[in-house]
Amino acid sequence: PLILVLNGPNLNLLGTREPEIYGTATLDDLETLCAETAEGLGLAIECRQTNLEGELITWVQEARERAAGVVINPAGYSHTSVALMDAISALEIPVIEVHLSNIHKRESFRHHSYVSHAATGVICGLGFAGYRLALIALSDILEEEDD
Ligand code: DQA
Repeated sequence: PLILVLNGPNLNLLGTREPEIYGTATLDDLETLCAETAEGLGLAIECRQTNLEGELITWVQEARERAAGVVINPAGYSHTSVALMDAISALEIPVIEVHLSNIHKRESFRHHSYVSHAATGVICGLGFAGYRLALIALSDILEEEDD
């Protein structure tokens, strides 16, 4: 089964962007970790990043036909995008929302995520490990669906 790992705006700057919050490892490092985790779980993955809201929505729509599950860090669009939430609501496959930082510990405008209304599950505050855990959770969900 194919899992899409989608990263939203500014996550291309990982490693240099507010390292005290997001750490010093890069998006490339993150995607390598995801690929290694997926391989261990017997999942195929495709990692993508975009700064464009519409592009993220198009990728979520495409997941309807292509993927068995989605891991998504919608970054700033989590807190603003009804359109992205609607695209996720239209999916019938499991979607895990991930945030590197604990958004509940930060500014109040980060406490609400539209995407969480539509996600199967949400992980935040665990850094890169959150993506690994999201892939493990998807693997479990897909196995349960199989039996
Ligand atoms: C983030 C948290 C968001 O509030 C922020 O806009 C981001 C990254 C995270 O991974 O912690 O860009 O999604």
